[in-house]
Amino acid sequence: MRDKLNTVEKRVKLLLEEEGSGHDWLHIERVRNLAVYIGVKEGGHIEIIELASLLHDLSDEKMNIMGQSEITSWLSSIGFTRHETDQAIHIIETISFKGNGKTIPSTIEGKAVQDADRLDAIGAIGIARAFLYAGSKGHLLHLPKKNPRETLTDQEYRQNPSTAINHFYEKLLKLSSLMNTNTGKELAKERHEFMEFFLNQFYKEWEKPLC
Ligand code: ADP
Ligand code: NI
Repeated sequence: MRDKLNTVEKRVKLLLEEEGSGHDWLHIERVRNLAVYIGVKEGGHIEIIELASLLHDLSDEKMNIMGQSEITSWLSSIGFTRHETDQAIHIIETISFKGNGKTIPSTIEGKAVQDADRLDAIGAIGIARAFLYAGSKGHLLHLPKKNPRETLTDQEYRQNPSTAINHFYEKLLKLSSLMNTNTGKELAKERHEFMEFFLNQFYKEWEKPLC
């Protein structure tokens, strides 16, 4: 399995090396490392966790780098079994946040990868990624009169751009309470608090710049 994972890693690295919206190769690597850490603590098949982590953003609708059927035939050509491929595909189909963040993967491997992807969306790195993403899409930083949207369908979540600051309320601040695993919950705590600290300071500078 290790050789096959190395083959997948090499191609994913090439495909995402220069991705500019925060879903680049180093995001994938951070997610893999976090997911493996969670998997070691919580149980789960580590190689499946690694495989799904490596593939998790390729067929995401906003990236659209490789469709699921293309991934399936690619994995089979490398020598992954049908069962391994199905497990990885199930995970990447179910981890995305989309409109409400309510989809939970059924396996422990999927839960680990979903927690890891969400951990990389919060904390200092999450803050940096949110502004990188917003900048890459031409979204605004902050519009005080534009309230965050309360409930979002999948389509609204993707299609009507909000502001970078609203993204914290529409998604990022919800993630710590959506963690699947105890390890994920523990790791999310400090990252969540740091986002609250950041937002407090942001509003302080915005509203009372001279104080
Ligand atoms: P998922 O991978 O769970 O489907 P998304 O694709 O919505 O999640 O987002 C992945 C990351 O991209 C987010 O954590 C965030 O950093 C960034 N991102 C996505 N949408 C926005 C947005 N509207 N504004 C700012 N950042 C965003
Ligand atoms: Ni991701």
